[in-house]
Order: sequence, then C-alpha cells, then structure tokens
Amino acid sequence: MTMRTHTCGDLTGADKGARVTLCGWVDTVRDHGGIIFIDLRDRYGMTQVIFDPQDSKEAWDLAQSTRGEYVIRVEGTVEPRPADMVNTNLATGEIEVRCNVIDLLNKSRTPPFPLDDDKAKRVHEDLRLTYRYLDIRRPVMQRNLRLRHKILQAVRSYMDAEDFIEVETPILTKSTPEGARDYLVPSRVVPGHFFALPQAPQQYKQLLMMGGIDRYFQIARCFRDEDLRADRQPEFTQIDVEMSFIDAEDIYRVIDGMIAGIMEVSGHGKPELPIARMTYREAMDRFGSDKPDLRFGMELTDLSDIFAETQFKVFANVIGGGGVVKAINAKGLAGVSAGVIDQWTNLAKEAGLGGLAFIRVQEDGNWKSPIVKFFSETEKAALQQRLDIQVGDLILFAADKPAVANEALGRLRLIAGDTAGIIPEDVFKLTWVTEFPLLERSPEGRLQSMHHPFTSPHPDDVGLLETEPEKVRALAYDIVMNGVELGGGSIRIHDPDIQQKMFEVLGLPADEINDRFGHLIKALSFGAPPHGGIALGVDRLVMLMAGSESIRDVIAFPKTQKAMDLMMDAPSTVDARQLRDVHLELALPDDVEG
Ligand code: AMO
Ligand code: AMP
Repeated sequence: MTMRTHTCGDLTGADKGARVTLCGWVDTVRDHGGIIFIDLRDRYGMTQVIFDPQDSKEAWDLAQSTRGEYVIRVEGTVEPRPADMVNTNLATGEIEVRCNVIDLLNKSRTPPFPLDDDKAKRVHEDLRLTYRYLDIRRPVMQRNLRLRHKILQAVRSYMDAEDFIEVETPILTKSTPEGARDYLVPSRVVPGHFFALPQAPQQYKQLLMMGGIDRYFQIARCFRDEDLRADRQPEFTQIDVEMSFIDAEDIYRVIDGMIAGIMEVSGHGKPELPIARMTYREAMDRFGSDKPDLRFGMELTDLSDIFAETQFKVFANVIGGGGVVKAINAKGLAGVSAGVIDQWTNLAKEAGLGGLAFIRVQEDGNWKSPIVKFFSETEKAALQQRLDIQVGDLILFAADKPAVANEALGRLRLIAGDTAGIIPEDVFKLTWVTEFPLLERSPEGRLQSMHHPFTSPHPDDVGLLETEPEKVRALAYDIVMNGVELGGGSIRIHDPDIQQKMFEVLGLPADEINDRFGHLIKALSFGAPPHGGIALGVDRLVMLMAGSESIRDVIAFPKTQKAMDLMMDAPSTVDARQLRDVHLELALPDDVEG
C-alpha cells in the first residue's frame, strides 16, 4: 500500500474520475448541510476533500471529528467542481476529491496561533519562534525556504560552471578579527585553551589560495557575537569566495553574473549588467551612506559655496571651521507635523548634528522657517535654483564636518523617502561601492581596519600609510542592493612584509602579531599568489528576493533579538560535570541562575 498517490498540489481537471490517496494536515473543516468539506494541506498545496454520509457513514463520522492540524490520509475519487464553485486562486481549484475512506494518522493539540499567513502576521514573533515547526507549515515560510534552496542551488551550479571548488573549512578554529566578539568553545584536551567559532572563513580561504586552489567558494556558516538587528543574526550564512591571480574587475564580473542568476531564479528578471559602480566618496557625498538606496532621489546637495559669505551665524561658523552646509529637498513633505520635525531633529542630533534647520514651502509660496530671515536675497535665489524648490517642499539643512552632515542627512533621507512613500517596492537597485578607506578611528581614537587587516592598501596610497593613514584608500568593495549591504570583500595583501607592517600600523604589539597571525605571515612567505575575494550574506540576499522585512523570515530556525533559540531553549545551563571536563568554573552575578 503506497501511503499517497498524489500530493495536495497535484490534481487538476485532467484527473477527473481517478481514484487517489492523499495525505496532509487539516487546514479547515466546514460542515455545509451535512456534507463535510476539509481543506487538506501539504507542502505542495491544498486540495478540497468532501465527505458525504451517503458515501460512507463511518468516514463521515471520523471526518467530522477532525480539527485543524490533524494529520489524515484520505481515499476518494477526483470530481470536477460545479462551474460556479471553481476556485481560480488554487492550483487544484477545478476539482475536489469525494472520499469514503479516512485514516487518522495523528491528532494535534490546538495550535497556539493561527497558521493563516495574514493572521500569523499579527502574532508576536516570539510565540512563532517558540513553535517554529508550526510556523514553518505556513505557506509564506514554505515559499521562503524553497526560494532559499533555489538560490543556493543556482549559486552552486553557477560557481561550478565558473570552475570554483567548494571547500569546507573548520568550525572549531582560532579567533579571527572581523570586528565582532567571538563565540568561544573551551578545550577539554588543552586546559585553559579555547577554540573560537569562525566570524568568517577569511584566513582559511586565503590559505587555500596559498594551497593553489585558485578558485574557492563555500556556503559558509559564520558566527558573530554582536548586537542584533533585523538584518543581523549571531549565526548567518555567506557565499564566500576567493580567487588567485585576479584584480577587482574579475570579482565584479563573477559576482555580477551570480547576482543576475539569483535574481532570475527568484523571478525578478536579470538586472542590467555590468552592475553600476560608485566610489565610497561619491556614495557618502550624494547619499550620506556607504550603502546607498538608489531606488529614489532626494540626494544630498552641497550649499557651502552659496553660504560662503552668509550672515547666518550657525552656517558661517561651520563653513569658517572647514565644515559644509548641505541639504535635502524632501519634496512634498512641507506639511509634516511639528512632532515629526522634532523627531527628525533628535535623529539628526544622534548622528552628531547641532540642530536641524528647515524650510517649509507653503501653499502661498512663502518659506516658513526659523532661519530664512538671516538669508540674503541672493542666497535665497541661489538656494531656490540649486534645490529646485517648489510649493510643498520641505528643505532640511545640516551644517557640520562633512562626515557628520552626510551621516545625518543620509539617515533623514531614508526616513523622508519612506514618509513620502516614494521608495518603490519590487524594484532592485544595485551598485558596487569601491575605494573604501583602509582605516578608520575607533570611538577611542585607535586606528582600526575598515574591512579587515588582510585588505590591501591602494597601490597609489601606500606611501601615506605612515604619514596620513586615514587618507589611504583600500582595494575594498561592497555590493549594495536597495540600501542593504549584501556583501563585501577586497584584494588581499600577499606580501608578508606589508602584512607585518599593516599589523604594526594597527598598533598590535610584536608578540601579539606573532601569536595571532604568525601562521598567516609564515604562509605568505612561501610563495603566496596575489589574491582577493568577497563574501555575500545569503540571509540578506534571500530576504530581499523574498520581499521580507527581516532575515529571520528566511532562516528556518533563527535566534531572537536577544540571541536565543526559544524553541530549543538555548543557550541553557550545563551540569557541573560538563564544566569540570572543560576546566571551567562559573563566576556569575547573584541574579543569574547557575
Ligand atoms: P563582512 O564582514 O563584510 O566580510 O561580511 C560579508 C557579508 O556577510 C553578511 N553579514 C551578516 N549577515 C547576517 N548577520 C550578520 N551578523 C552578518 N554579518 C555580516 C553581510 C556582509 O556584507 N571575510 C569578509 C569577506 C571578504 O573579505 O572576503 C567578511 O566576512 O551581507
Ligand atoms: P540656534 O542658533 O542654535 O538656535 O539655531 C538656529 C537654527 O539652526 C535652529 O533651527 C537649529 O535647529 C538650526 N541648527 C543649529 N545647528 C545646526 C546645524 N549644525 N546644522 C543645521 N541646522 C542647525
């Protein structure tokens, strides 16, 4: 006896008269004048099955006793639905199965939330994550996980055709400097020593180039103990890539092709190739972000020349101190409430701005603003022209050091675009961002790598490393889609002396360089080929392709914002014996249960 002859998504009018067996979950049970209708659901779809007491009283009785999420097996005959009952929204909508046999394979407790996609949206996510196996039964989750599979499948065959070899790298490894905190695993065998889970397979993939693998990729799991957001998880997946004897152009070509393939299997059509590029400088100047959302305009405009001689103190002081005055024209938003302006002002202040000057352009053409009274007629005319100011516009000004003004306006641009409703959905705007700075200052003023310390300085800027390190550009690039950083990478340092120098510029003491990176510097000294690579965040990619708001929607078993697995109840305590094995003793604050 086969368990089932068809799935719940198979049957059409062409199967009329066939004797079939289906298995699945009871989605809904309805009683219409003594006839029981069950929508039977599985991964493939939904089929309406009906039980008439005249066909089998026994089957009808059992059908009547089923509830949502019961698991049943039914046998019956495929019948066309009456013309007025055809459901064109359903693949199986032309037919129903008239059943006279039903097996109850398993009962179900009442689910803690409705599995209907629309209703589930309003359920607290924690509840859905606690019962994730039920949540995954929802059509949206089924579709997302299938899309994820399709995308990874496409990536694997594309990379294979491009002559890449997929190599697995260790999960138990040594701390790598990708900028987050490590997850640590204590060693039983070597007391007091720890493995770190990889933040990325960065050093391994470079070592594979030194091993002559030439073209490597991996669908790689990465672990980072960092503060979480909608597009960050403590464990996530990368499409990790490394290539030898290449320059950045080779990376762009391979990844352009990969992304085109991914968009195609996701049903979004191919993007225009090659994918556009802009430098980091341009991205910051025009969009106030190194991950510009190019789906809408509202670009940042520099007005410093217009206000060079201004009487308005705030602007004059900033310009005099080497700063800039910039603005965005938030078209059509003149009418936002004072409360909104207050919120946006706070946001600008969080970005470091002293305040947020603005102009509302009223219906009568008048400029309503706390600051225009300080502007000369010439300044107003120039402003009007530069920003194309019209009735209904809201102009937001930022005056500060370029970095602060850009950052503040960059954030406001996204919110203003959203508020104005001008950011189109179902549109995919891609760009490479190139020529990132090599180094940045940490909040404590230390120099740190903007990407990671294996990134090659731009050959034209190597001379600046010791004199003006912050001016050195890197051979580093990001790929950005709709304002989301999809991936990033770089051409690497392959000269052991430059690598050593890089660690020194970062202020690492000699013994630490040796202890943490001695293996890499040694490997570079055995004939390392020039090489470079990139890693793309799979979860973010699938999120965008699926049109989801959160990467948790495209991960089967994600962690919460507090990095917990509510379903497995992890992390959890372990018993004293396990701790002794790994030579650990707990020293917990009093309010934490040991
Ligand atoms: P990077 O740290 O920029 O580079 O990471 C590459 C991409 O991985 C994704 N990503 C994440 N996705 C979800 N949750 C997270 N916590 C998270 N962190 C990163 C992003 C990001 O663009 N080894 C280098 C790559 C290289 O140089 O080749 C690296 O990991 O989409
Ligand atoms: P103040 O002279 O501080 O009262 O500021 C006058 C106006 O300029 C107010 O509307 C402030 O919000 C605004 N403002 C103050 N500092 C800045 C700044 N750095 N950039 C833009 N606007 C500012």
